Amino acid sequence: MLLEVKDLAVKYGNIEALHGISFNIDKGEIVTLIGANGAGKTSTLMTLARLSKPEAPEVFRGDILFEGKSLLKTEPHELIQKKMMCLVPEGRHIFGNLTVQENLDLATYARKVEVGEIHESLDLVYSLFPRLKERRKQRSESLSGGEQQMLAVGRALMTGTDFIMLDEPSMGLAPILMYDMFRALKKINELKGMTILVVEQNAKVALDFASRGYVLDTGEIIASGSSEELRNNEDVKKAYLGG
Ligand SMILES: Nc1ncnc2c1ncn2[C@@H]1O[C@H](COP(=O)(O)OP(=O)(O)OP(=O)(O)O)[C@@H](O)[C@H]1O
Ligand SMILES: [Mg+2]
Repeated sequence: MLLEVKDLAVKYGNIEALHGISFNIDKGEIVTLIGANGAGKTSTLMTLARLSKPEAPEVFRGDILFEGKSLLKTEPHELIQKKMMCLVPEGRHIFGNLTVQENLDLATYARKVEVGEIHESLDLVYSLFPRLKERRKQRSESLSGGEQQMLAVGRALMTGTDFIMLDEPSMGLAPILMYDMFRALKKINELKGMTILVVEQNAKVALDFASRGYVLDTGEIIASGSSEELRNNEDVKKAYLGG
């Protein structure tokens, strides 16, 4: 087991956002967490990435095990340095006044690796997202929203971790770009055995992309199973797949 979340409960001040959720991910899997607005998806990812208050909630029960060891005392930068996991947050967070190339270079800063390895990651990012290569000298703020989203994913790939978590990567993307992005992610999953946890409101797309998933509803997991099972689950159909 790569990641095991056990009875995780978190709160912001006295607002409880997750009431004790449990799920797990194996190495090399693509797993999705789907749920409506306010379900607790972002709270889950921020907690896994060990971000701290006030943006992220505080854990008051349960545990997060990474390869069997608790992450509760781990700092976010340690997760990147040790190449354990990397989060692509909601809303991109790229540096608009830097070029595409500079944004990608910056992501390697925490990496203690050979220059050759960095070149390899860069080749990978540019082969997955040719648009970024074409625009590598362009200031990032002048990229389209979809291209900025690709850059955010590209930056996560530059960190060299084998596990990435994505918070609503489809947000604001036209269908074609959205499918391009998921195809690129699937390709690195196949090529590199990258483990992927993707959080989505767009249940249809998420279930097409992932092999299994969990449904989060107001801080609780209410269903889980293979994508096929979830697609055929009556409650999931009604609530998340438009009947
Ligand atoms: N900084 C915060 N302070 C207080 N409450 C918060 C904070 N961030 C989130 N919450 C609350 O925690 C709950 C879960 O929010 P969260 O952002 O995790 O939902 P989400 O599933 O990501 O929703 P969305 O699809 O809208 O992004 C919500 O009720 C929200 O109001
Ligand atoms: Mg969210």
